[in-house]
Amino acid sequence: MSSSTLSLLLTLAFFLQTALFHFCSDSENFSAYDPYEPNLHKLTAFLSIQAPPSGFGMGSIGQEPNQAYGLALCRGDVSSQDCETCVVEAGTEIRKRCPYNKGATIWYDNCLFKYSNQDFFGRIDNGNMFFMWNLNNVSEPQTFNHKTKQLLTELANEAYANPKLYATEETELYGLTQCTKDLSASDCNKCLDDIINELSSCCDGKQGGRVVGGSCNFRYEIYPFLNSL
Ligand SMILES: *[C@@H]1O[C@H](CO)[C@@H](O)[C@H](O)[C@H]1NC(C)=O
Ligand SMILES: *[C@@H]1O[C@H](CO)[C@@H](O)[C@H](O)[C@H]1NC(C)=O
Repeated sequence: MSSSTLSLLLTLAFFLQTALFHFCSDSENFSAYDPYEPNLHKLTAFLSIQAPPSGFGMGSIGQEPNQAYGLALCRGDVSSQDCETCVVEAGTEIRKRCPYNKGATIWYDNCLFKYSNQDFFGRIDNGNMFFMWNLNNVSEPQTFNHKTKQLLTELANEAYANPKLYATEETELYGLTQCTKDLSASDCNKCLDDIINELSSCCDGKQGGRVVGGSCNFRYEIYPFLNSL
């Protein structure tokens, strides 16, 4: 796929609110009529009710060995209604994409939805990370890269000190950092530090970029992208 096709697809993904990326965990599978399935189904319904009011929900349903653990996180600026739309869509779509995997994660612009038969709460998940970037280059990459890193580092420090584990900046550069709220403040900081270290691999001299993992993500752009609340 050419990079302009990819860019077009990502643009379409944004407008259609289709998933940015998903990951099916191959480590354990289940078959039809497995007792894990109704637990997963109930968990999905539970998260689509629990997440929208605050933007974050987590929980587990069932008993070992069929217990399902999950969380849903909406981007910090997303309204409850858009959060609900995203989490409901994510819960349906991920079951289509990973029908028999006991663990899976799906990312949208507005939300992240993740589940597993293992208790993953409070653990940094940067194993399934992906990058997105703006194809356009900046004119002075070194200065720009430095400014971007500085902005994201400041935002990482703000995010972990905020009970929402979320921070944004909207001045000449627009940025966002966010962690899933099962992480402690210090693990949020560590998670963000780790992905900020990917900045040069992801987005060297690019006008915008994102590094998105299972527990934290950042985004920066030269234009505003946040909803005003
Ligand atoms: C689970 O299923 C996937 C294919 O859907 C397969 O690649 C993987 O090996 C399976 N894992 C186990 C532990 O059987
Ligand atoms: C940006 O820079 C890269 C690497 O120098 C180059 O391959 C690419 O074509 C540039 N993109 C644009 C839109 O000019």
